[in-house]
Amino acid sequence: MTTHLKASDLKTPDISGETVRVELGERGYDIVIGPNTLAGLGDRIAALAPGARVAVVSDRTVEGMHGDALRAALKGKVEIAATITVPPGESSKCFAELERVTNALLDARIERGDLVIAFGGGVVGDLAGFAAAILRRGVRYVQVPTTLLAQVDSSVGGKTGIDTAHGKNLVGAFHQPALVVADTALLDTLSPREFRAGYAEVAKYGLIDDPGFFAWLEGSWREVFAGGPARIRAIATSCRAKARVVAADEREGGQRALLNLGHTFGHAFEADAGFTGRLVHGEAVAIGMIMAFGFSARLGLCAPEDEDRVARHLAAVGLPTKPSHIEGGLPSAGRLLDLISQDKKVERGALTFVLVEGIGKAFVRKDVPESEVRAFLVERLEQ
Ligand code: GLY
Repeated sequence: MTTHLKASDLKTPDISGETVRVELGERGYDIVIGPNTLAGLGDRIAALAPGARVAVVSDRTVEGMHGDALRAALKGKVEIAATITVPPGESSKCFAELERVTNALLDARIERGDLVIAFGGGVVGDLAGFAAAILRRGVRYVQVPTTLLAQVDSSVGGKTGIDTAHGKNLVGAFHQPALVVADTALLDTLSPREFRAGYAEVAKYGLIDDPGFFAWLEGSWREVFAGGPARIRAIATSCRAKARVVAADEREGGQRALLNLGHTFGHAFEADAGFTGRLVHGEAVAIGMIMAFGFSARLGLCAPEDEDRVARHLAAVGLPTKPSHIEGGLPSAGRLLDLISQDKKVERGALTFVLVEGIGKAFVRKDVPESEVRAFLVERLEQ
């Protein structure tokens, strides 16, 4: 990525929000960001697919909390053919739930011209998006993300899929949504832990290629957590960054891999924790990003002070910053390496990492020697 936003370039959207376009030709779509944007969902879907029916896929918590608001937004505009709920949590991204959801969509006679609405966090978005990708060889879907993590990352870009015993997201498809509606007011009901976890992905965009954004976050994170224009600004900036990357490299042939900063280490810890509440994705990414800076420093690529600065900021917002912060015991370096090798970011046995030359200077490095990774993991697991 070459475009670097300076803090002064950060547009302050008016309080009503902002729309970011993902430029993918005929598969392009809008990300509509702002408070109470959910209320306009029915009109947007009716305009997008006149006469289409929709099936809502959600989790029980989101459905219980926000289901009435969704139904009110669709009432009189779009027919709801079914509401399908899955248990909350990463364990729903599995073959059994995929089968249940796809059968329920078929029971509801969702046809090629109809739409699936993924109403929830990253788990629901990935699962419902994958179900939409394979149902009748592909039906369109709309992402209505209800967590910060989903609003700034997983709902945008068309990565869908499920986890298997071999690791996270190992079965899936690229299937772009037809529309993303990110209602920032829905984030008010998130637990502080969930909001913090999503914030790790916000910080990630600064660390990848936007040092001005990272510096702005260091000074403004309290306002982002409090809500209001700073939160909209952080989400819109994140979505613009993601939209840019996805438009340039939809299927991760190159620069999209930068979005995996911190994810190689992070996924391994997450897989070891068994995708349970012991360690949630954003927390794993926070630890993984700091480790990516530490590993880069060990390889002589960046200054150790950069790692300290990243760790200071993520600690300030309350995120875990090192493996010893993970409750319930740590895996061995060997087990972590096995998990890293299972990850899809391994090409023909060579370890691929997103490394950094500094804050806002991430790059992809292939053929990282396994011995270096092992030595680094041993060192970090002892801290
Ligand atoms: N979350 C990484 C990506 O969408 O590519």
